[in-house]
Amino acid sequence: MNKRVLLIIGGGIAAYKSLFLIRELARRGVQSRVIITKGGTEFVTPLSAGALSGDKVFTDLFDLTDEAEMGHIELSRAADLVVVAPATADLLAKAAHGIANDLATTTLMATDKRVLFAPAMNVRMWEAASTQRNVQQLLDDGAYFIGPDAGDMACGEFGPGRMAEPPVIADHILGLLQGDTSLDGLRAPKPLKGRHMLITAGPTREPIDPVRYLSNHSSGKQGYAIAAALSGLGAKVTLVSGPVNLQPPEGVDCVRIETAREMLAACEAALPADCFISVAAVADWRPKACGDKKIKKDKDGIPPLNLTENPDILRTLSKAENRPQLVIGFAAETNDVINHAKAKRAKKKCDWIVANDVSGDVMGGDHNEMILVTPDGETTWPRQSKTGAARQLALKIAQALL
Ligand code: C5P
Repeated sequence: MNKRVLLIIGGGIAAYKSLFLIRELARRGVQSRVIITKGGTEFVTPLSAGALSGDKVFTDLFDLTDEAEMGHIELSRAADLVVVAPATADLLAKAAHGIANDLATTTLMATDKRVLFAPAMNVRMWEAASTQRNVQQLLDDGAYFIGPDAGDMACGEFGPGRMAEPPVIADHILGLLQGDTSLDGLRAPKPLKGRHMLITAGPTREPIDPVRYLSNHSSGKQGYAIAAALSGLGAKVTLVSGPVNLQPPEGVDCVRIETAREMLAACEAALPADCFISVAAVADWRPKACGDKKIKKDKDGIPPLNLTENPDILRTLSKAENRPQLVIGFAAETNDVINHAKAKRAKKKCDWIVANDVSGDVMGGDHNEMILVTPDGETTWPRQSKTGAARQLALKIAQALL
């Protein structure tokens, strides 16, 4: 392959991995021309990058010799793809806001080529509202992202923030250079524009009498985060929610219900939809009878709790005449997660199952490790924030509906 990338190395500890990326790309026939930011030179030297790329390395906009030889405009256009790795919080912020005060940022602003960011930073910096806003802005502007991965970080914390591994970035680069169109749709500012997503979240409440009920610990956080991520990709979202302590995400149409039967009715009323995502922890059973008077403690003795089965909303919508094109169920498991999830996919007749191990702190917590089970097999997404997992799932849905 006779292609060339312009690789911008930002100032982060992951910069050393970009040296491996240069070598990995060279092995696959892709030449790198390298710009290192001022911060980047604190971590890797132009000499090492130059030795690996076999080319001159650029570092400073105001180096008059470089400017005379090759201006930033020409530099950005001579490449087939621009790659920013590691993309620091600072570089993402500048790129999102059109700040161009050094060679790397002026080049990013001037390029007419596609740009792939491989973010790397501390987990809190990645999850900061400002960084997430900047990432969304760059996605809206048509940029591509790879990573960050979750795991142990150089700063001693754990979570998303590690730069994706060089071979994975190289795969992505090759995909983009070869015109992989499945990646292209995600570059559209709003890939889900004109699509209707129906999503359930939270627990249901099944009344025993007018003051008592059966329910579960579902917080609704994961479902609400998915609704927000889908809405961010331009979809019209109907969120059918059980009782939770959360504000519906902006722009999302929220229908509040209490019981499983109300949830089913609300979902059926919201059809047609392109995609149904069943995140709610629906109570499997409800008390057979709920009188209109409170059961008296002394008079009636200990009342029997006679239960009956609730409708299975996921299965009902999977088999509906106006079935959404893509139906996704969730499976909260405590053991043998993948096998249970596969069995559930078949039983519920849905297209995908998102499985998670709830033996830890998933229910009610802020993090999740998802395993996506589709007809093509299983993919495990590393433990990350529920917001990050939601974004990853939303992008996967967008890709499937393109
Ligand atoms: O059968 P189980 O509860 O393990 O399946 C979980 C999946 O099925 C989730 O997607 C959940 O939202 C959905 N479900 C449902 N209606 C029920 C029970 C579960 O839609 N009555």
